Amino acid sequence: MATWSCRFVLQRGAPLICLRAAAAHSPAQFVGSIRTLKTTTWFEEHLTEDNQQYMRKTAAEEYRRQTAEKLNPLKDEPWQRHEWAEGSRRVGLVAVKLGMAPIWTKTGERHVVTMLQVQDCHVLKSVSKEEFDGHTAALIVGGKNISPFYRSEKEMEMFRNAGVPPKQKVTTFKVTDNALIKPGTPLYAAHFRPGQFVDVTAKSIGKGFQGVMKRWGFKGQPASHGQTKTHRRPGASGPGGDPAKVFKGKKMPGMMGNIYITAYGLKIWRVNTKYNVLYVNGSVPGHRNCLVKVRDTVLPTRSSTLLNPPFPTYFTEEEGDLDEDLYDDNLFIHTEPSLTLS
Ligand SMILES: *[C@@H]1O[C@H](CO)[C@@H](O)[C@H](O)[C@H]1NC(C)=O
Repeated sequence: MATWSCRFVLQRGAPLICLRAAAAHSPAQFVGSIRTLKTTTWFEEHLTEDNQQYMRKTAAEEYRRQTAEKLNPLKDEPWQRHEWAEGSRRVGLVAVKLGMAPIWTKTGERHVVTMLQVQDCHVLKSVSKEEFDGHTAALIVGGKNISPFYRSEKEMEMFRNAGVPPKQKVTTFKVTDNALIKPGTPLYAAHFRPGQFVDVTAKSIGKGFQGVMKRWGFKGQPASHGQTKTHRRPGASGPGGDPAKVFKGKKMPGMMGNIYITAYGLKIWRVNTKYNVLYVNGSVPGHRNCLVKVRDTVLPTRSSTLLNPPFPTYFTEEEGDLDEDLYDDNLFIHTEPSLTLS
């Protein structure tokens, strides 16, 4: 630290030395105001190829060992279970967006689906009503294992308490009291069933600073008729002398994308229980490989399709082996014989 600030003083010369004299009584504040010292490197950046592979392999083994004993959450001192009731709110999942694919219904309509894979999704913490906000209980859920390098010591505490590896995405789901689950419980794609509707939240693809034509779909201005350098500009912003101000929320150029967006009421067409893949109707926000949050839909007309779901979640040991693929009734299944002769 000492050498670092000396170098800085030498480079910048007089003004900084003055600043230093003024801030001499609080050196910590002085350092903080210049630049943060946080490193921004990948954990494997300074390792050789061999060591990288070794680290990945051992980390994956270690993580598998950690979670192996968690596979049967009902085995040791299970939490009290409750029945599904009208108005109960279940936990959701954290999933990775894999990409899109087409599907066909039995009547020959084509739809596109987004494939979401549920990777290493675990319940991390159960927060009671009183602890959360006094109105509703919550469950903290994490998805996709990463190196502990990317997590602070404070965050690691929660992972250790749950006995699971550090997660890339940690998110909170509000649930009803009867849907609380023991921390450390793994969550699987079979938590959702074909035919039900879900909401998917994710950070949309960042577009950077954009003009009004791209950001808000403005028409722009004519290509000819004497326009000078005003082809894609917004034009007049409206208010004259009376309001004498621009109202808040006026559509203007600015940062586009990179905000959390929710796609509501997406139908689940198919669930693959082996690879834990959800096939949801249409598109979801975010780029490929981004982490999304999936939950039962809040739309009143669509949530009525949710009847007797796995509650509070799907436990492997309870329902036994599900089929590898669960399909919606209307889905055309390519692997089945299309003709049966009798
Ligand atoms: C699936 O998504 C498409 C496009 O978003 C929409 O037009 C269609 O109605 C949806 N189908 C179902 C069954 O939700």
